[in-house]
Amino acid sequence: RTEVVTIPVVVHVVHDRSVPEQDIGDEQIHSQVTVLNQDFRAANPDVGKVPDPWRPLVADARIEFRLATRDPNGNPTNGIIRIATDVSDFSWDDAVKANATGGSDPWPSDQYLNVWVCLLRGGLLGYAQFPGGPPQTDGVVILHSAFGTAGTAAPPFDGGRTATHEIGHWLNLYHIWGDDDGACTSDDKVDDTPNQADSNQGTPRFPRITCDNGPHGDMFMNYMDYTDDAAMFMFTRGQATRMNACLDGERASFLV
Ligand code: ARG
Ligand code: ZN
Ligand code: CA
Repeated sequence: RTEVVTIPVVVHVVHDRSVPEQDIGDEQIHSQVTVLNQDFRAANPDVGKVPDPWRPLVADARIEFRLATRDPNGNPTNGIIRIATDVSDFSWDDAVKANATGGSDPWPSDQYLNVWVCLLRGGLLGYAQFPGGPPQTDGVVILHSAFGTAGTAAPPFDGGRTATHEIGHWLNLYHIWGDDDGACTSDDKVDDTPNQADSNQGTPRFPRITCDNGPHGDMFMNYMDYTDDAAMFMFTRGQATRMNACLDGERASFLV
């Protein structure tokens, strides 16, 4: 398959009715869609910052995102649902994903990527459900102030990269360090990303060597690390292959 796959997106803005700023504007939502369409096509303005040795690995994943233009009944929509809730904040427990718990029910998750935007507590920027999970909770959840590049988006997570990272998980990518707490024993199941010990934060200086991965070290500028938005700017070919295998497999319903 060489064609670009376009994923219809529905954004559920779940806002505390007593905190108006949580009801983020359309412009902030559109700014996020723009970032996704840059990042998944290697068309991001900062792709030129990739260190020389890794330039050949930079991949266009050939995946695009478009706010839904039809709702599940076939009626026109702008792809944005707004829910005023009495819940002051949410967590990883999926309460935001159902009307019954103060959130918003998903649209059919085999036809739409559901994105919930809300206040998350505990410093959580976002979380995702991997392919193969329950349809009622499928999608990604993003903290409103780490969503898009406008409105309430706040540094250092105002580059729209939280959604890029979480949608990477939704398309079956693991964290680049393999979630082994520095043990170097487990990796991300992608061959062209160096094995690295643990997550990186902030804006590391290149090269940063761990797990005997010299001379180039950790690929901390990969979207699947934990660095600041301005410090992450690439998916690799291996990651693009893995995401497209997901679209050819468990998420094949999006191939139309
Ligand atoms: N699930 C991660 C967290 O909550 C998301 C990290 C996103 N990183 C970023 N630079 N936006 O910490
Ligand atoms: Zn993650
Ligand atoms: Ca790897």
